[in-house]
Amino acid sequence: MPVPLMDIRGQYAALLDDVKQAVCDVIDSGRFILGPNMRALEDEVASAVGAGHGVAVANGTDALVLSLEALGIGRGDEVVTTAYTFYATAEAIARVGATPVFADIDPRTFNIDPAAAEAAVTERTRAIVAVHLYGQPADLPALRDVASRHGLALIEDAAQAFGATVDGRGAGSFGDLATFSFFPTKNFPAFGDAGMVVSSSADLAERVRLLRFHGSREKRRFELVGTNSRMDEIQAAVLRRFLPEVSGWNTARRAAAGRYRRLGLGDLVQLPAEASGAEHVYHLYVVRSPARDQLARTLTAAGIGCRAYYDVPLHLQPVFAHLGYRRGDLPETERAADEGLALPMFPTLDESAQREVVAAVRAAALAAA
Ligand SMILES: Cc1ncc(COP(=O)(O)O)c(C=O)c1O
Repeated sequence: MPVPLMDIRGQYAALLDDVKQAVCDVIDSGRFILGPNMRALEDEVASAVGAGHGVAVANGTDALVLSLEALGIGRGDEVVTTAYTFYATAEAIARVGATPVFADIDPRTFNIDPAAAEAAVTERTRAIVAVHLYGQPADLPALRDVASRHGLALIEDAAQAFGATVDGRGAGSFGDLATFSFFPTKNFPAFGDAGMVVSSSADLAERVRLLRFHGSREKRRFELVGTNSRMDEIQAAVLRRFLPEVSGWNTARRAAAGRYRRLGLGDLVQLPAEASGAEHVYHLYVVRSPARDQLARTLTAAGIGCRAYYDVPLHLQPVFAHLGYRRGDLPETERAADEGLALPMFPTLDESAQREVVAAVRAAALAAA
């Protein structure tokens, strides 16, 4: 029986009538931009995260760019981040004219290692961008401490981790700013592109609010060079309908992760670890195997969805060749990129499908032995 890597429609199948009604209500209202759903969603998301202020934007990439701009980061500045992430994290840093400086990861969590981040700080460093990769929060208390001791801003790229927590506090509430993506495959999905910046600083949130709308509070007065990056009302209406469901979806993902463990997957491949005090939301379920490529080929042939995410880490991407990194510079990042494989994970994944996945992984392991 084939098992897909993800099933984005299954989780909201029962809600579709409601969501369609919400979309029709927006159409009937004739308010499509900077409307009441977007404003209500900003408050609802900020309160769910525990971050004070929310600013809804067009996507998660813009959320990062606008956060960096709000901090005044640009040419001549350095920003420490991870190379084991989606390109947008470092692209945003380069987009504002700053230089990404890549620090190695903690191999247990796939997230930036706070000690490596600290070692990468120079007199030009202005910020750390931590990514909560695959739904697992980075070591936020330690990163907050590094940032404070060196006078740096901390940005959380929480695109993959809506609802994750550290010591009971929402991922997204530790940084000076945090960014979310509601891309349709994320664990809190829209029906198109959408994103959000949250911040506990009213000043920083206000700067992002100005920047997302041409540096303007009112239509004919322009205070800053900004851009057009607003979340549209239709996406906001969809997201408002889904927000109360996300915690249940995350619980279902965590239950599926527990079932993989109980079914013995850990005897065959290295399972994702959960950092102490952190609640992982398993946006993706990424295991490790030294024979990753062969495993991926066998699973694909058996109809089991799988994918190697970020298999060329950012320090080795052509766009950053001028920064002079070489293979070997970030050994844990490179090993994770060589070994990581995402297996099926979605809230409606059931035990019988997971048994198929584990059986296929076992068959691949036997074939390789
Ligand atoms: C870690 C990370 N950062 C940033 C982004 C960018 O978000 P978006 O696709 O909404 O621009 C994504 C998702 O695509 C992501 O996974």
